Amino acid sequence: MEFIIVTEQYAPAVALIQLNRPKELNALNRQLMEEVRDALKGLDANANVRAIIITGNEQAFAAGADIKQMADMSAIDMLLIDQFSTWDQIRKTKKPVIAAVSGFALGGGCEFAMTCDMIVASETATFGQPEIKIGTLPGAGGTQRLTRAVGKAKAMELILTGRFMPAEEALTHGLINKIVPVEMYLKEAVALAQEIARMSPVAVQLAKEAVNRSFETLLDEGLAFERKNFYLSFASADQKEGMKAFIEKRKPNYTGK
Ligand code: HXC
Repeated sequence: MEFIIVTEQYAPAVALIQLNRPKELNALNRQLMEEVRDALKGLDANANVRAIIITGNEQAFAAGADIKQMADMSAIDMLLIDQFSTWDQIRKTKKPVIAAVSGFALGGGCEFAMTCDMIVASETATFGQPEIKIGTLPGAGGTQRLTRAVGKAKAMELILTGRFMPAEEALTHGLINKIVPVEMYLKEAVALAQEIARMSPVAVQLAKEAVNRSFETLLDEGLAFERKNFYLSFASADQKEGMKAFIEKRKPNYTGK
């Protein structure tokens, strides 16, 4: 791995992927995204990992797709390279993924954070889709995910002006989960990841799937999907353990089975 650092047990059952192109503000070149995809695939299959954090550094989560890599490409180059199949694989990660964001999360960086399940931000985090300023538009889900998160009016304004949105505004409009001081954002993401890692991983996976389904489908189908996953959870030893532990007034011991 050249552009990311992967720590399988950053905290018990919590893995960390750190984007590591600091001089370029973690601009997302294609190799970096492929490395993230490969890392996530490995961590998804690793039974010792129950939650994953993706972070950058204090200055930047990521300042966007690598403009220098894209600048001279043709539409057909883009079509043939098909970089978004990498992004599609990333978004299919089954385990919960938390973005720990400080500094810039712009363009593809904002889209990448939105691809994650939750966003913990530092006070300096800045979100935006500034592609309009360089003659293009978001291509990795920004027009869709930002709109669903903050609503049409705010998304339209941000995407058509390219204005950066400070963390406070992102929190007010439901884009992110919480804001903490800079020295705390990674610790806070770890605490959130550990809280989730204490739950049944089977139930977490089924619940994540069901929440994500709400973005893909009509209410009736979404409810049916949720119901099937709810029933399926009753096939797990963890559901039996969880309910038994409640009745016996003790902490559950989840095995992920
Ligand atoms: C390539 C980038 C970059 C990017 C920053 N750098 N962002 N390189 N792609 N997206 C590089 C700069 O060229 C510079 O390298 C170094 O990082 C530091 O950046 P500066 O601009 O000197 O820093 P600063 O003045 O602090 O300004 C920070 C900034 C600005 C406001 C974040 O860098 C900026 O506007 N970046 C571009 C943001 C953007 O437009 N993102 C959307 C990209 S398109 P050198 O070598 O010159 O020192 C996109 C499409 C997504 O994301 C869809 C497809 C996946």
